[in-house]
Amino acid sequence: MGGERTVSVTGASGYIGSFLVKRLLQRGYHVRATVRDPGNQKKVKHLLELANASTHLSLWKAELAEEGGYDDAIQGCQGVFHVAAPVELINQSQDGEEEIESTTLNGILSIMRSCSKAKTVKRLVYTSTTGTITVQPQPPAVSEFTEDLWSDIDLCYQHKMYGWMYVVAKTIAEKAAWKYAEENGIDMVTVHPSLVLGPFITPYTNISIDAAISLYTTGIASLKKLNGFSAVHVDDVCNAHIYLFENPLAKGRYICSSHGVNIFEIAHSLSLKYPDRNIPTQFEGLDEAQKIIPCSSKKLMDLGFEFAHKKKDTSDLCVETIESYRERASCDPKSMMVSALSSSQA
Ligand SMILES: NC(=O)c1ccc[n+]([C@@H]2O[C@H](COP(=O)([O-])OP(=O)(O)OC[C@H]3O[C@@H](n4cnc5c(N)ncnc54)[C@H](OP(=O)(O)O)[C@@H]3O)[C@@H](O)[C@H]2O)c1
Repeated sequence: MGGERTVSVTGASGYIGSFLVKRLLQRGYHVRATVRDPGNQKKVKHLLELANASTHLSLWKAELAEEGGYDDAIQGCQGVFHVAAPVELINQSQDGEEEIESTTLNGILSIMRSCSKAKTVKRLVYTSTTGTITVQPQPPAVSEFTEDLWSDIDLCYQHKMYGWMYVVAKTIAEKAAWKYAEENGIDMVTVHPSLVLGPFITPYTNISIDAAISLYTTGIASLKKLNGFSAVHVDDVCNAHIYLFENPLAKGRYICSSHGVNIFEIAHSLSLKYPDRNIPTQFEGLDEAQKIIPCSSKKLMDLGFEFAHKKKDTSDLCVETIESYRERASCDPKSMMVSALSSSQA
C-alpha cells in the first residue's frame, strides 16, 4: 500500500540518495528505498539507523539494468526520486563506455515506464548533473551556464576528458527522459547539481567525497581534476530535490550549484586548518587565476528555493566532508573507505 506521502528513492544507499532519504524521513514521508542488495548490511545499515526508519522506511531490491525492476517499489507511490546511476564506473577504463551509457539510459526509461504503469506518481524528480550542461566549445560563449544549454557530446568523444563517458551517458539519458516525459505525460523535473561536497552518512566514500578529502587523506589532490568547476553542499542538493517535488510550479531543468572550485584557495585553507598533514599548495600545470564560469541557480532561487550553505567558502564544504570522514575513520579504520581511498589517488 502506498499513500499521499509515500515516495520511492532509487540509489538510496549512495552519497546523495542516503542524505535525501534522511531528509525525507525527517519531513514525515514514507520512503521506499531501492538498493541493489538489501541483504548487504554494509550498504543499508546507515539507512536502517536513520530517525523514523523503523516506521517510515522500507527497502526494495532493484537494479537499473533490469526492465521492470522498479515496478513494485514505485507502484502506489506519489513521488519518485531517481538518484541512482553507475557513478563508480567513471574511474574505469574506456571499456566502461557501453555499460555506463546503457545502464544510465535503460535505467531512467525503465523507471519512467514503471511510473506510467503505476498511475499513482504525481511527479518524478530525476537527479541529472551540471555535466549535461557545461561541456561547451572553448572558450564558452557564455558568462554563466544556464539550463537552456546542453553539453556537446561530440566534444566529449573528441577530447575524452576526465569523466567524459559519464557526461555522455547522463546527457543521452536525460534527453531520452524528456522525450518520454513529453510523449507519455509524465510530470518530471530534473535537478542538476555541480560537484557535491559536505558530510556523508554512507560507511564508505564515493568519487566526489574522495575528491573533497583527497588533499587531507593522501596529499594528492584528485580535486585538482575539477579545478575551475562548480560545487554545492549535499544538504542544499537534497533540500532542492524535495522543494522541487513539493512545489507545484516547478517545471523543467534546475541547476543546483552555489560555489566555485579553486584548488589553490582550498589547499591554502586546508593547510592552515590541518598544519600536521603537509597539504600541498602548489599544483603544476594549473593556472591559479583560472576563471570559473559559474553554474547559475537563478531559476531555482527565483522559484523560491533558499541555499542554506551559500555563504560558506568551498574549503568549508571540504572541511565538512573531511570531518565526516574523520568521525568514521576513528570508529572503523579498516572500513571500505581504505580501499576506496587508495583507488582515488590521481
Ligand atoms: N556526487 C556528485 O558530485 C554528483 C554531482 C552531480 C550529479 N550527481 C548525480 O547524483 C546521483 C547520485 O550520485 P552519488 O554521488 O550519490 O553516487 P554514489 O554514492 O556512487 O551512489 C550511486 C547509487 O547508485 C546506485 N547504483 C549504481 N549502479 C546501479 C545499478 N546498476 N542499479 C541500481 N542502482 C545502482 C548505487 O547502489 P549500490 O549501493 O547498490 O552500489 C548507489 O546507491 C547520480 O545520478 C549522479 O549522476 C552526483
